[in-house]
Amino acid sequence: MDSGKFPESFAWGAATAAYQIEGGWDADGKGLSIWDSFTHQGGDRVFKNQTGDVACGSYTLWEEDLKCIKQLGLTHYRFSLSWSRLLPDGTTGFINQKGVNYYNKLIDSLLEMKVTPLVTLYHFDTPQAIEDQGGWNSENTVAIFEQYAKFCYSTFGDRVKLWITINEPHVVSKFSYEEGLFAPGNKELGFGAYRSAHNMLKAHAKAWHAYNNFFRDKQKGFVSIALNSDWAEPLDPNSLADKEATERYLTFNLQWFAKPIFIDGDYPTVMKSEISRKSKEEGLTTSRLPEFTNEEKTMIKGTADFFCLNYYTTRKIRPLTSTVSEPSFNSDMGAEGIKDPEWPESGVEWLCVVPWGLRKLLAYIKHTFGNPDIYITENGFAQSDPPILQDTHRWGYFQETLKEVLKAIRQDGANVKGYFAWSLLDNFEWTSGYNVRFGLFHVDFDQPSLPRTPYFSANEFAKVVKGNKLICN
Ligand code: BGC
Repeated sequence: MDSGKFPESFAWGAATAAYQIEGGWDADGKGLSIWDSFTHQGGDRVFKNQTGDVACGSYTLWEEDLKCIKQLGLTHYRFSLSWSRLLPDGTTGFINQKGVNYYNKLIDSLLEMKVTPLVTLYHFDTPQAIEDQGGWNSENTVAIFEQYAKFCYSTFGDRVKLWITINEPHVVSKFSYEEGLFAPGNKELGFGAYRSAHNMLKAHAKAWHAYNNFFRDKQKGFVSIALNSDWAEPLDPNSLADKEATERYLTFNLQWFAKPIFIDGDYPTVMKSEISRKSKEEGLTTSRLPEFTNEEKTMIKGTADFFCLNYYTTRKIRPLTSTVSEPSFNSDMGAEGIKDPEWPESGVEWLCVVPWGLRKLLAYIKHTFGNPDIYITENGFAQSDPPILQDTHRWGYFQETLKEVLKAIRQDGANVKGYFAWSLLDNFEWTSGYNVRFGLFHVDFDQPSLPRTPYFSANEFAKVVKGNKLICN
């Protein structure tokens, strides 16, 4: 029972995203993305106004990344395509062949190494030209994304069999369109998150159907979406108010997307009723949460071939204490997350290390969404800058987490099929720039050759991958 063995053919991977690692922001005809524009505008929205112009240089140093993957012995590698590298203005009107060549080389080399690619179509980096027409605020982006997805399936789908349409629509909607913290920096409290999420859900569903209708028979692959969620526990387990707030927290975070996709094509009832009630009180004639037509509900339901979960942390929940007059996603949710001071913090203030939270979340997904196959498509721990190579404490966090994954599989019967560490390399951590390091490999950003060096965690992770087994002490 305690041998630490993972199921046979468990997928062991590491994950990255185009803007965070590639650099080459204007190389070979690449179009601008919103993160290029956002970082170039300065204004201290990113740590020290850093940019992803060079990042890990993976656009030219991709073979160095392959060496890291090989050293880890991974069975899978998750990376994202830069939409504007392939289609500079976001549409298939012009295809940048050099961008296509880049990903072809990467995919072919992975396959030669017997590493299965898991490819994300969209990881936060909307082409600027599409943003200029409204981005995820605009319904037009739904059809444009569908075209982009079809283009990717037809270009790479002979070799890529695992696809993720959108990475973390929750983060995109909340940080990019509600609070304006992430590119494109749209701040529109109470509206932005819902509108953009609505369009992303439709875009995802269209992209899934495009695969299902036109590519699946021939290519025989699978398509999903990567959803992030904290685990949540009531601050006071005996308080009814805290328990209800906890349910609302999970609903507004995970169910918002997972219920339409995995259950019935529609938003959670509590979101619909709460937001509609508040909208009326605010004197609005329609709810701030848009509605799906029946046709759209049918289209959205059942559009994931497996569950992709990005898990980082847990919160203790109580009803929202601050009184905000302005409508907002947070006040609609009416819940706030507290960090337990006993939980260790990992490298960045929001990331408390709570390995058992992952086990609970996996069991919750199993019970709530019909026992799907689950891939943990991101999990990891950061170090702050300057990091130490001998990161034994960080490896301890990975170990504890993997133990909980094993318990979820063995004791709770969750169908966990794979685990992807975030991230293969230290990289551009969005508004934290290079100050937060999530890599299994250290990157020396001060040297022009951007050398990669394994952390202690990388060497230990490689042992787990090799034995398909956690060596517990
Ligand atoms: C994102 C990654 C990010 C990581 C750590 C996830 O939300 O998908 O791009 O680097 O979390 O913050």
